[in-house]
Amino acid sequence: MLPHKFIEQRLQQAVTAVLPDADVTAVLVRPCPDPKFGDYQTNALMSLAKARKLNPRQLASDVVAKLDVADACAPVEIAGAGFLNFRLKPAALAQTLQGAARGEHLFSEPAAHPRTVVVDFSSPNVAKSMHVGHIRSTILGDCLARTLRLLGHRVITDNHLGDWGTQFGMLLVAWKRELDAAALKADPITEMERLYKKVSAECKANPATLEAARQELVRLQAGDEENLRIWHEMIALSRVQFDTIYQRLGVKFDHTLGESFYHPRLQPLVQELCTKGIARESEGALAVFFEAIPPLKEHPALIQKSDGAFNYTTTDLATLMHRLETWRPDEIVYVTDARQQLHFQQLFAVFRRWHPEAKTKLAHVWFGSILGEDGKPFKTRSGDTVKLSDLLDEAEERAYKVVSEKNPEQPEPVGREIARIVGIAAVKYADLLPNRQSDYVFSWDKLLALNGNTAPYLQYAYARIRSIFRKANVGQDVSPVPTCELSDALKLDAREELALARHLLNFGLVLEAVADDYRPNYLCNYLYELAGHFTSFYENCPVLKSAPELRTSRLVLCDLTARVMKQGLDVLGIETLEQM
Ligand code: ARG
Repeated sequence: MLPHKFIEQRLQQAVTAVLPDADVTAVLVRPCPDPKFGDYQTNALMSLAKARKLNPRQLASDVVAKLDVADACAPVEIAGAGFLNFRLKPAALAQTLQGAARGEHLFSEPAAHPRTVVVDFSSPNVAKSMHVGHIRSTILGDCLARTLRLLGHRVITDNHLGDWGTQFGMLLVAWKRELDAAALKADPITEMERLYKKVSAECKANPATLEAARQELVRLQAGDEENLRIWHEMIALSRVQFDTIYQRLGVKFDHTLGESFYHPRLQPLVQELCTKGIARESEGALAVFFEAIPPLKEHPALIQKSDGAFNYTTTDLATLMHRLETWRPDEIVYVTDARQQLHFQQLFAVFRRWHPEAKTKLAHVWFGSILGEDGKPFKTRSGDTVKLSDLLDEAEERAYKVVSEKNPEQPEPVGREIARIVGIAAVKYADLLPNRQSDYVFSWDKLLALNGNTAPYLQYAYARIRSIFRKANVGQDVSPVPTCELSDALKLDAREELALARHLLNFGLVLEAVADDYRPNYLCNYLYELAGHFTSFYENCPVLKSAPELRTSRLVLCDLTARVMKQGLDVLGIETLEQM
């Protein structure tokens, strides 16, 4: 068992001994914010004490009196207002690392209570190109799905394509009137965007066009054959473009159920909400009012417009019901930009009123915008929104410059492949590193820098460790040392060795924190610090030149660092290279 799990288990037992009625599931340990005070810390006793009006330090000392962690830890310290600090004994540290070296774990264990989690992310709109706003959803969502999967949860990814709605009425008008078939063949999205731009401007200026669009939409929704055929074609053409991007990004979905999939459910759903008295008529439309929820008081959720059309909320309610019935998830996570916060607050509030018995956790994981270096929304030079495919092309091109400058001898195809991996990684990492709720400035120089908290830096750190093994001539297999020799191979004496070992141990806890708070930036910073610890270790502790026993021990540390780095980057959706 991993030390933090062991400590948690013993801690929960001790808490139960002192407070038999306490719910101990929230009694957990976290890495100590400052290693000076120990390796792990818990603040759980303070909230338990508060809820019972007990003195927190007294409760802490009562729990410590019942706590037996001597197998793994030095005497436990009570700190501050009632924190407990735990420090691992060096032997326990070495033992855990040896377990990892033998391949028994990589500092995390499958969740004791696996959850079923639906992750709704990316979700671009048909007949439009995926723009930088969708990139964050795609990259963040994919990373959260990967993290949850690695932790042993059952993850279902669903791409909620925008393939239904008023824009199709307009598109149908334009498609029938002035489609340029050759242009469509050459570049379908660009042609569809041209049509859309033109007709939506016309709709604003000319009520007759707007009316024509409305009629085309009604015909589509009524199942008109021609309109359905054109609509299907628009979806198919868009999906080819989306899939190309997903393939470049290495992103896969279990399901792609667009908004249209839920269309048949909308009328009965609205009916039910009215019958149950949850929705009511207001100015010809149907809406749900939230008098009792202050932030939503002024914002009723519209579920049917006065012209009879359903909207985004109606579809999302149907989607939510479908997911509950189909997958019975414990949790549904929606990854979109910050502008949709009100929408999801309304959605969740309607759902809770409709199904107060439901236990499913609903989370809107929102994120800020990407800004240009001028601090304004990220745009192309001509002022258009940046297309994701162009952004990725530029990333690969710029990465090629960096890579070929660093290694001019490399044959071009090799350099190109490295540049592809580095370029995509740099864009992803730039997106994952900032606190997701803040806007961030997109800067090519920053995200491609070989020094600093960037993907190329971490990929380079990984490749450098792998090169130690090439030099050591211990082969390319994962484990540098035969497993039978590992039982007492680790000697952790130097300060840098201990610091690196302790940091490795935190990998699993960091993954859990990423999944709990939906914040991949924790993992980015963890990996960056890992690279830093490794550098100090490597600068201060000779590896290949050490005497055989120490050399083996240090090679094990190198290998574990490489494995954690690779696994961590993989969770971020980033590929590694053996050589750069
Ligand atoms: N298609 C929407 C957009 O581009 C995002 C959909 C998010 N998912 C959802 N279930 N509402 O803004």
